[in-house]
Amino acid sequence: MNQKIEVFTEQLALLDRSRHLVVSKIKAAITNQDRCTIALSGGSTPKALYQALAQENLPWEKMHIFWGDERYVSPNHPDSNQCMARETWLNHIKIPQENIHPIPTSGGSPAVDAQNYAGELQKFFGVSDGEIPVFDIILLGMGDDGHTASLFPYTEALQVRDRLVTVGNKDGQPRITFTVPLINQALCVIFIVAGANKKEALTQVFAPNPDGNKYPAALIQPKNGELWWLLDAAANPAM
Ligand code: 6PG
Repeated sequence: MNQKIEVFTEQLALLDRSRHLVVSKIKAAITNQDRCTIALSGGSTPKALYQALAQENLPWEKMHIFWGDERYVSPNHPDSNQCMARETWLNHIKIPQENIHPIPTSGGSPAVDAQNYAGELQKFFGVSDGEIPVFDIILLGMGDDGHTASLFPYTEALQVRDRLVTVGNKDGQPRITFTVPLINQALCVIFIVAGANKKEALTQVFAPNPDGNKYPAALIQPKNGELWWLLDAAANPAM
């Protein structure tokens, strides 16, 4: 596995590196195939990155924005990952609305919406059942329990191997999430992890033979792609 770990003592340095890496991967994808597909993470860590990306001058019409997971709330709910990305980034750039592919959360049930999103991915990427789309970039965060996307410890979602999208479960609350096989098919997976509260889980994730059921971020091992960990010193196990 092609894994790179970079640690930054200053938050601004972490942010600048994150922006630089994402922009370079966007440009490379557009150079190679005249488009870039990126799946966003939610939570608080990426907010500053998204605000920085809003200042970039990129051919946004060549980008297609997806989400790696979503809380099962309306698009304008304060917990919505879609809402956060629009407010910090997408509302501030000239990107065709049809290039933004939010996870549906009003189809009647999380299972139906998960299936509908998987169908949207198959149609967009032109893949049939059993084939796995290849995202150019998938951004991920990690919770202090080692979850990533909405793949939470000891949940059924961790075992799903025959679907692209499934229903995650956070303390009984449904979420919609990419599955492990879909994330591991990406060309470039970038974790951005900051904060001392993440250090213990990250120590377990980086340990030899990690327990992916207990620390799901350890399940993210891209088959052919790059795996980047951009960390602050507080989260870094080695510090
Ligand atoms: C979400 C995210 C989730 C997030 C981690 C870390 O929907 O919340 O996709 O996986 O990346 O929970 O969140 P913080 O960045 O807020 O620590």
